[in-house]
Parts: sequence; C-alpha cells; structure tokens
Amino acid sequence: MKRILVTGASGQVGSELVPALRQRYGAQNVLASDIRNAEGPLSQEGPFQVVDCTDRPGLEAAVREFEADTLYHLAAILSAVGEANPLKAYEVNLGGLANALEVARAHGCAVFIPSSIAAFGPSTPPDPTPQETIQRPTTMYGVTKVAGELLADYYFLRYGLDTRGVRYPGLISYLAPPGGGTTDYAVEIFYEAIREGRYSCFLKPDTKLDMMYMPDAIRASIAVMEADPSVLKHRNAFNIAAMQFTPEELAEAIRRHIPGFVMEYEVDPLRQGIAESWPRRLDDSAAREEWGWSPEYDLEAMVADMLSNLRHKLAPAGV
Ligand SMILES: NC(=O)c1ccc[n+]([C@@H]2O[C@H](COP(=O)([O-])OP(=O)(O)OC[C@H]3O[C@@H](n4cnc5c(N)ncnc54)[C@H](O)[C@@H]3O)[C@@H](O)[C@H]2O)c1
Repeated sequence: MKRILVTGASGQVGSELVPALRQRYGAQNVLASDIRNAEGPLSQEGPFQVVDCTDRPGLEAAVREFEADTLYHLAAILSAVGEANPLKAYEVNLGGLANALEVARAHGCAVFIPSSIAAFGPSTPPDPTPQETIQRPTTMYGVTKVAGELLADYYFLRYGLDTRGVRYPGLISYLAPPGGGTTDYAVEIFYEAIREGRYSCFLKPDTKLDMMYMPDAIRASIAVMEADPSVLKHRNAFNIAAMQFTPEELAEAIRRHIPGFVMEYEVDPLRQGIAESWPRRLDDSAAREEWGWSPEYDLEAMVADMLSNLRHKLAPAGV
C-alpha cells in the first residue's frame, strides 16, 4: 500500500491529483500539503498539513510522521509569477526540489517531479520538439525546470532514488484556477465565455502552444509512477502531448457551442514573449513506447467537457 505526500497540493494540479490518488490508494494514505488553503476541500476529504517545501526540517518531519513512501512534489512558482519575482522562483522551485530529493533519499521515497514545456527555449526545435534536444530557456521558471530535470536524473544515477516525471504542456481545468502561467488564457476564456460572452486574450491570435486537459495530465502522473521500472529507458521529463491550438482556434471551437462568443486581443508583451519561446508540439513517442502513454481528450472533447462542467460549477452563482 502506498503512503503518498503531495506538496503544493492546493494548486491547479494538486486539486485534482489528490482526489485521484485518494480514490486509488485510499483517502487516509494521501497527505495533501501546501502553504495555503489549509481549510480547503482537500482537508475535508483526507489528511492535510501546512508544509513549506523550502523548510527542509518541516518537510522531513511531515514525511517521517506520515511514513510516506512516495512524494508528488508539485510546489512551484509558475512562469509569469516567476518573472515578477525570479529569485523567489529560484528558491521555491530549485531549493524546494533539492529539499524534496534529500528528504526522499533519507526515507527511501519515490518522487514524482513535474517539468514543463517551459524547460525549452527559442533555440529548441518547436514542432515537433524531440525528447532529447536543446534546452536553453529564457525564463527563470524554465531555468529551474531544466535544472530540476537534471537534478532528478542525478539523484537516480548517483543514489538510485526512484525519481520520475513528465513535461506537462499548458494545462486546462475547471476545478481550481491556474497559478499564474503563460497558458492561463486557455482557462480564463471559458469563464468569460459563459459569464460575458466575450474574452480579451493576452496572447496573439496565432500563438500555437502545446496543451492538455487535466484528466489526461492526472492519468499520466499516476501511470508514470506505476510503470514497471525495468522497461523505462528514461525516468524523468517524459514529453507528453495531447492537443495543439492557437487562441483563435480555441475561440472558434468555443463558438461552436456559444455562437455569439467574441474574442478580443490585448497582448501582454511579457507573456507573448514567453509563449513564443516555447514548443508548439512535443514528440511524446518515448512516453508512448515506454509506459503506454496515450491522451483521451482532443480540442473538441476538451471544449465540450469544460463548458459542461463550468456551466454546472457557475450555476449556483446565478450565471
Ligand atoms: N498548470 C500548468 O499549466 C503547468 C504546466 C507545466 C508544468 N506545471 C507544473 O506542475 C506543478 C504544479 O503546478 P500547478 O499548476 O498546480 O501550480 P499552482 O501555482 O496552481 O500550484 C502550486 C502550489 O504550490 C504552492 N506553493 C508555493 N510555494 C510553496 C512552498 N514554498 N511550499 C509549499 N507549497 C508552495 C502554492 O501555494 C500552490 O498551491 C508545478 O511544478 C508546475 O511547474 C504546471
């Protein structure tokens, strides 16, 4: 039986990953932790503890007391927020990861480490982006993600620690709001489409990016940790992909459900610059071959599901 500690659990990914892990391994076997939302829904459904990943003794005590054998280390500062405070992103993303790896080493835990399309940069081949390629990102977030991938590999090679991970594309979900990334437009647009029938997008209409619906990201995060280690050639930073679209194409797909939907553009140069440095499509053949990765949601299926779930979620507010 697994005993899992999730850091950064109150965020966009953790809000859906924790319930999925609890469903699979038992609610009492999954300890959600974060520096915020100690009273949130995750604390109603199972154990929750305030843990700051930059505080190594605090993280160590939580792992020891819970007798965790697996860490899902989600705590991070995302791309746009990281550019507003690069040193903070460095401290949380790399300092926090180093702490998680050291604590895992002391207690023999397996560790899931999420990387990102942000681990690539302008000199990376953008379409398709190979599993192994040039990684010279130009954001602090990206710098911490590349270094994190290497650190995760290092702990496996040097200490035999069972580190694994995927590179998430931009994630789309309806449960928790996104945490200040460059692909947040692809979530905000749904709220505004339902509430106002219009949305002002901060990226240019033809900015194509790699994206994924949250249920696929959650399945990937569990599948890679359950994969038979003897068949893994890679361990960390598996490219995974599901759909690629531009803001204009997303607006068009929404218009098939909300015909009068109006899309306007007010481009934010910071996030536009970040988006242009990222891949348009990851080559996910290594994940497909080594642990059977395959997405379930394409653009059409994601839009239909997002609108249906968000209409339901926003209905009590009278929208
Ligand atoms: N959401 C995406 O589109 C996306 C894409 C690629 C990769 N990722 C990666 O997935 C992981 C989860 O991302 P997310 O979207 O849930 O982010 P999020 O910003 O929604 O959540 C991150 C959580 O970490 C917490 N946190 C911040 N500092 C902390 C600290 N010092 N100690 C403990 N917790 C702290 C925050 O309170 C927040 O709840 C991150 O590693 C992120 O880089 C996300």
